[in-house]
Amino acid sequence: MAIVNTLKMFEAAKRDGFAVGAFNVNNMELLQGIIWAAKEQQAPLILQISRGARQYANMKYLRALIDVAAEEAPEIPIVIHLDHGDLDTALVCIDEGYTSVMYDGSKLPLAENIANTKKVCEHAHGKDPYVCVEAELGMLGGIEEDVVGVAEEDVMKFLTDPDEAEQFVKDTGCDSLAVAIGTSHGAYKFKHEPKLAFDRIDEIAAKIPDTPLVMHGSSSVPAEFVAAINKYAVLDQSNAELCRVAGESNWEQMPKTMGVPEEAIARAAKMAVCKVNIDTDLRLALTSSILRAWGESNDALWAWMQAGSEGKRPDFPFDPRKYLGPGREAVKAIVARKMQALGSAGKAKSVMG
Ligand code: G3H
Ligand code: 13P
Ligand code: ZN
Repeated sequence: MAIVNTLKMFEAAKRDGFAVGAFNVNNMELLQGIIWAAKEQQAPLILQISRGARQYANMKYLRALIDVAAEEAPEIPIVIHLDHGDLDTALVCIDEGYTSVMYDGSKLPLAENIANTKKVCEHAHGKDPYVCVEAELGMLGGIEEDVVGVAEEDVMKFLTDPDEAEQFVKDTGCDSLAVAIGTSHGAYKFKHEPKLAFDRIDEIAAKIPDTPLVMHGSSSVPAEFVAAINKYAVLDQSNAELCRVAGESNWEQMPKTMGVPEEAIARAAKMAVCKVNIDTDLRLALTSSILRAWGESNDALWAWMQAGSEGKRPDFPFDPRKYLGPGREAVKAIVARKMQALGSAGKAKSVMG
């Protein structure tokens, strides 16, 4: 079992020019998809748990599942990380045995962000074994359950300031820093191909060369997942088959949207970015796969009816294993793809030393 903190992981990432993927876990299928990808790709892994995930699943369940995953993949270094923690949750998670926590004070006045981050660092760094702290400076866009950011048009106005970053790291002693470089959370990041501030990564890194940088909001929102959701998720069940057969698209669930292209995360991974956060793409993979399973069964039923309802009526997949099984395979595939893009595939050994 190799549950570790981020120190050696980021050291290797910096040395070898890759970034570690940090993937959000809310349930067993997501975790299995992620760990199976890490094992297949021999990639170091950060499992991150948000406050929402802790509430949804109960941390005791998640921790037990993670321990089993770590036993299943003893050669993979795994970090258990709190995603977007507030002060109380960060302190609790440090005591609960997380090996890394994020304290997100980015929406607070700077002095308060510094004071709280410092408190978290003092508590975390006093632990044996050492617990790592990720802090955040600058503001991302997008909205998730517990994470509200700035509007899309304002994202570029709130990039992390390099001088402020230097002072912040000095004052707080944080181990890594999440920076705003133009990305945002969730599925609705950009209406057009985004322009990320790569030069800002270099400017920040020049001021804090020893601090690994973290990139949040890094999902690419793959078009094939959006298309599958729009094809199979229907607002009006009674019209669904008619619309589909007629090729009508006025019942789309997800409007046009774009994420961070995988070439962009690959580029950042070769720079000072050592951790890349991905949640939305896993949600989309799982959900589109479930909808496809249900939609294909509707198609089969439609075809059977069109053919005169002869023979055995196609079954609807109400057994959860029939749709969650393909769902976790879809999660595994997208996570494996990210590990390749980030260059972390094959790097588990170089972290373990
Ligand atoms: O950045 C936030 C993560 O995607 C977690 O979202 O708070 O809805 O679990 P959540
Ligand atoms: P996405 O919403 O782009 O997946 O970002 C997730 C994230 O930053 C979690 O902290
Ligand atoms: Zn985030």
